[in-house]
Amino acid sequence: MDSDKLKGLRVKEERIQLDLDNYFLRHNDPKRVCNEKEVRVVKKKETKKIKTGLVTLATVEADAETSSLIERADKFLGEIGYTEHGFRHANLVAHIARNIMYRLSFPEREAELAAIAGYLHDIGNVISREFHEVSGALISRSILKRLGMSYSEIAVVMNAIGNHEEEHGCATSSVAAALIIADKSDVHRSRVRSTDQLVFDIHDRVNYAAQRSFLNVNPETCMITLEIEIDTSISQVMEYFEIFLSRMVMCRNASKFLDCKFSLVINKTQLL
Ligand SMILES: [Fe+2]
Ligand SMILES: [Fe+2]
Repeated sequence: MDSDKLKGLRVKEERIQLDLDNYFLRHNDPKRVCNEKEVRVVKKKETKKIKTGLVTLATVEADAETSSLIERADKFLGEIGYTEHGFRHANLVAHIARNIMYRLSFPEREAELAAIAGYLHDIGNVISREFHEVSGALISRSILKRLGMSYSEIAVVMNAIGNHEEEHGCATSSVAAALIIADKSDVHRSRVRSTDQLVFDIHDRVNYAAQRSFLNVNPETCMITLEIEIDTSISQVMEYFEIFLSRMVMCRNASKFLDCKFSLVINKTQLL
């Protein structure tokens, strides 16, 4: 499907909803084709790519080694008190990264690489949280090489994964930029493992307080806006900034790489 047809499937003001259950594009246009139809179109397209030998998100999702490592990585992080980093987060980041690229009319294949990088980006946690972006890039290299991806595409995915954490990374390609924005936008109560608010740390509190998260990508105004609704009886907006300011700065720089501006709106107030 060419990019013009893909554009036709999108609505001007559509939103990318970050909730896993509803991560498909939201639509305001009553004449628009339904989400399911769009999903079918994407699946058909992915099947065609598998036949032609290109590694797609579907190929990676179906890989047994990848699934085992993501599952184990999430368990290990759970043991040291981190929020959810499993299939929910991997799938969500993959779809959001791809949608950012689609919305900004990047080539279809580049969008697919962003989806693959999004799916694999936290796989390095299976070794250690420390430098998981580097170990994740190397693990992904061996998986993608085995699956038959070209070395030049592997390089793009490795670079994106290696640059997704704010401590050591920055946007060095459009794929890396989309991954950064998708990853840092995933703030949601469904990531909190414990239901006992008495044992919440600040990360749990902020995530649990986030009742809804939306990422709006507006190609006309070149604005990428993260909208979050926070229950301030659980966590104050200041707490969000305390732990997420560096991430928001990273998102701003990544948006700049995509020739867009980044904006943060919490409880309908623009803060960045
Ligand atoms: Fe990470
Ligand atoms: Fe992540």
